[in-house]
Order: sequence, then structure tokens, then C-alpha cells
Amino acid sequence: MRHLISPLDLSLEEMDYILTLGQKIMEEPEKYAHVCDGKKLATLFYEPSTRTRLSFEAAMLNMGGKVLGFSSADSSSAAKGESVADTIRVISSYADICAMRHPKEGAPTVASMYSEIPVINAGDGGHNHPTQTLTDLITIKTLMGRLDNLTIGMCGDLKFGRTVHSLINAMVRYTRVRFVLISPKELQIPEYLRKEVLDAGKIDYIETNELEKYMPDLDILYMTRVQRERFFNEEDYIRLKDSFILDASKMQYAKEKMYVLHPLPRVNEISTEVDKDPRAVYFLQAKYGVYVRMALILSLLGLDEKKIFKDSV
Ligand code: CP
Repeated sequence: MRHLISPLDLSLEEMDYILTLGQKIMEEPEKYAHVCDGKKLATLFYEPSTRTRLSFEAAMLNMGGKVLGFSSADSSSAAKGESVADTIRVISSYADICAMRHPKEGAPTVASMYSEIPVINAGDGGHNHPTQTLTDLITIKTLMGRLDNLTIGMCGDLKFGRTVHSLINAMVRYTRVRFVLISPKELQIPEYLRKEVLDAGKIDYIETNELEKYMPDLDILYMTRVQRERFFNEEDYIRLKDSFILDASKMQYAKEKMYVLHPLPRVNEISTEVDKDPRAVYFLQAKYGVYVRMALILSLLGLDEKKIFKDSV
């Protein structure tokens, strides 16, 4: 049985298999309409979510499966003090696979230790968000046609943004990938990522607080919101929240084929005037998230294409 807790739980080959399957599903979604008939997905969300929870649910429903779950800790027995370990033991007998979001880093890892079904980390604190990474990768691969030889700008809250941490961990495995890390000093990437991933891997990167200066170099600009819920005091959040706002005037500096991604939700960091720029692909990215989660569910349930289509052809 496999779980997905960190993007590094998948080898490059497995990652490529899931992305390619996601692209096949994108082209012919109707072909996959019954491949999960009789299967159930549990969504255990102890923290708010729109895209991740609903795209997981859409993914399972699109494949003929069913969904159950909760969307806040308050509406589960966590509010009465139940542990993650006990919850997953119970859910293991209700569903075939589960996606868990939790404010505590490591909670999905704990769940995976007690689970009898595959556990997917749908975001744990400021740590990891591997299915957002799969979403980001399928978007880049589909639009750019490659995952190597790219200059990727990451802008905003690089300290608390778990999507940034997961994406860096995944992208360093591809060749000739260069990072431009754009943030206020207080919101730079965590030290472990700088030392253990970027420096140790001899990855080409710079840290800066100048967005316009580096715009012409970028193939991808990955914008992120400042994560209010992870700040210890409101004053710091207010001081830093509007550090970078991408607007039409800044887009003028970008290449004709530079794509703007954002995991969403957006607050102020991308002006709505950018939405009509064909290079703004964050809503398309959210759509692609359904296809890649369909591919992931199939993969973790051990339903490869040979198996799922053998009875129907
Ligand atoms: N990108 C993302 O994780 O969005 P949600 O918080 O809405 O799930």
C-alpha cells in the first residue's frame, strides 16, 4: 500500500506516470467515467479548503466513485479530542482511500502509520502540499511542454507557503532548473530548504526582493499569498501582506510565453486586471488539479490502465 505524504514519496518515473495519465484523462475524461465504480474516497479536512477538497471529490465522482468526509475539525470528533490515529483506524473501514488536510505538520504521516488505506497529504501546516505540486507540474508540463530547462520565479510568502516548499523539492529533480526567489527578507524560504535542498543539490538560485528586475528572465512566475493564518502577530501580517502585487504594468516586463501560476486562493497579490492576460493560467491550473488527482487516485488504488480497461474492452 502506498501513501503520498511528500512529493519525494514519488520517484521521477512515478511522477511522470501520474502526470502523463493526468494528461490522457484531460484529453478523454469520459473514458474514465466508471473506473472507480464501487470505490469510496474520504476527505478529512481539519483546515479550510475550496480547491483541494472539492477537486478531490470531483476527481472521485468523475470516475464513478463516491465521497464522504468532513470539512472542518469542528464538525468531526476531533472537537471532542479524538486523535488522528484513532480517526484513521475508523475511516479505514469506511473508505478505500483518503485525503487529509491538517494544520499540524506531520499529521498525515501519523495517519499513514495507522491506516489500512492509502493516505494522501492534502496540506499539512506550512510543510508540504504534494497534490498541489502535481497540479503545478501538470500545468507547467502541459503549457511549456517540458519540466526541465526552466527559470521559475517564486514570489510572496516563501517561508510559510507549503506549496512553494513542495514545488521546490519536486523541481530540483529536473535538469537545468533555476529559481528566482522573490520575497521580503522576513518571508524567505526556510533554512532547511536553502541548505539541504538548494545548496546541497548545487541548484542555481537567487534570493531577491525585486520582482520587476527579474521578470524578463522568467518562464514561470509562481505567485503566492501571504499566509495570514501562520503569522504569530497581526501587525507583521499587515506590514508584509502587500509586499508584491502583480499588475498589468509589471506583466509588460515578462516574456510573451511566461505563465503566471498561483495555487489560489488569491488575496491582493495578483490584481484582477491580470486575469484577462492569456499568460495568467491560475484558473486553468485549478482545473488541471482535478485530472491529476484522478490520476493519483487511480495510481494509489493500484488501478493501472491495463487493469481498469481489461474488463471493458
Ligand atoms: N491551493 C489550495 O490548496 O487551495 P485550497 O486551500 O482552497 O484547497
